[in-house]
Amino acid sequence: MAKYTRMLVLLLLPYIYLFSTTGAGLGLGHGHGLYVNVVDFGGKADGRTNSAQPFLRAWAAACSSFRPATIVVPSGRFLVGQVTFSGPCKNKAIKFLISGTVIAPLIDISNAADKWIGFDNIDGVSIHGGVFDGRGAALWGCKWAQRKCPDGATSLLFTNSRNFEIVGLTSKNSQLFHIVILKCQDVRVTGVNIVAPGNSPNTDGVHVQMSAGVTISQTSIRTGDDCVSIGHGTFGLLIDHVLCGPGHGISIGSLGKDHVLGQTVVSNVTVKSVIFSGTQNGLRIKTWGTLTTGYVYGVIFMDVVMRDVKNPIIIDQTYCPDNKNCPSQSSHIRIDNVEYINIRGTSYTQKAVNFGCSSSTPCRNIKLQNINLTCENQPTHSSCKNVLGTASGFMVPPSCV
Ligand SMILES: *[C@@H]1O[C@H](CO)[C@@H](O)[C@H](O)[C@H]1NC(C)=O
Ligand SMILES: *[C@@H]1O[C@H](CO)[C@@H](O)[C@H](O)[C@H]1NC(C)=O
Repeated sequence: MAKYTRMLVLLLLPYIYLFSTTGAGLGLGHGHGLYVNVVDFGGKADGRTNSAQPFLRAWAAACSSFRPATIVVPSGRFLVGQVTFSGPCKNKAIKFLISGTVIAPLIDISNAADKWIGFDNIDGVSIHGGVFDGRGAALWGCKWAQRKCPDGATSLLFTNSRNFEIVGLTSKNSQLFHIVILKCQDVRVTGVNIVAPGNSPNTDGVHVQMSAGVTISQTSIRTGDDCVSIGHGTFGLLIDHVLCGPGHGISIGSLGKDHVLGQTVVSNVTVKSVIFSGTQNGLRIKTWGTLTTGYVYGVIFMDVVMRDVKNPIIIDQTYCPDNKNCPSQSSHIRIDNVEYINIRGTSYTQKAVNFGCSSSTPCRNIKLQNINLTCENQPTHSSCKNVLGTASGFMVPPSCV
């Protein structure tokens, strides 16, 4: 009996809280929407008890509220199994206010999920603060040992959503990608800190695909793979004030690996005020040597600093690992209208600029302006294949365009 009373109180607590605030007249004013706390729904900050259901119940309460809603995750460590927060919701102002750390369950190698925390079909959601720890080390160990391993889970996967922001969040040690934005529109990622060891496999920072109007700003990304990777169907992406490294740099592509319905397109991408530190690449565009058609159009890279970057500026249109499935050996995706303005710093190799464009579909309108990439005391040089464009201003290495 006592057990049931306790359960009943637990179940009703959030509602008692809700009614008492509403009753006091606080619930109606501007900025005083519904507040729900995952602890009131049974969430345990003990780092051991799976709080997935309490998190989903808190989401259900917020999502069914007609008023703006705030979901509070207090400090402490919450173990949360695979969850997806799905919309549509009855309001367009749901805020996660996270003080604590959300940790993933340890991976089950024989039965691994492909995502950890999903957001699907949401509109007007913001996530503030919090640390998300994907605990990827066990999977990396499997991959390092070259055993048969699952791909692993993306830590935070946003799909079919619009008008949301991720502010001041930390994502660490994902099994696979940290943040993926897929089929979304109007997204802001700001003040985010992404961190995983430089040798952790496939731990890309942010991957954007089939999405429009995405901004990533004031963010630090240190991982074992791409800092930001940009997939097909990306329109209007701004990357501003971002630190990359260690990792593989910012990459448009790889594009054209699989047959994509329609054309493979990336357009209107701006990367500015970015610092690359010790990365494998800086500014990279990479397309597979396949027959897939499409284009990359309208890219601006400006005010970028390189610190010991292996390939500061690189276009590779003959990408074909292991020489498999690349019938044409050169890409049929057109790269057009790409500007590199004020790119300076140090290259780890002498080949600081490398344009390896396609023989069947050359790059056009490549513009270089004020480039200063040096390599200790050795001269740097440029390499050009199938590229048309112009160069102006200071030019080290000398342009081959
Ligand atoms: C290009 O993308 C930016 C966001 O990065 C957006 O503000 C702008 O409207 C887009 N321009 C065009 C022509 O689509
Ligand atoms: C180019 O970089 C070198 C090395 O950092 C520096 O000494 C030089 O002043 C730079 N030149 C210009 C024009 O910025």
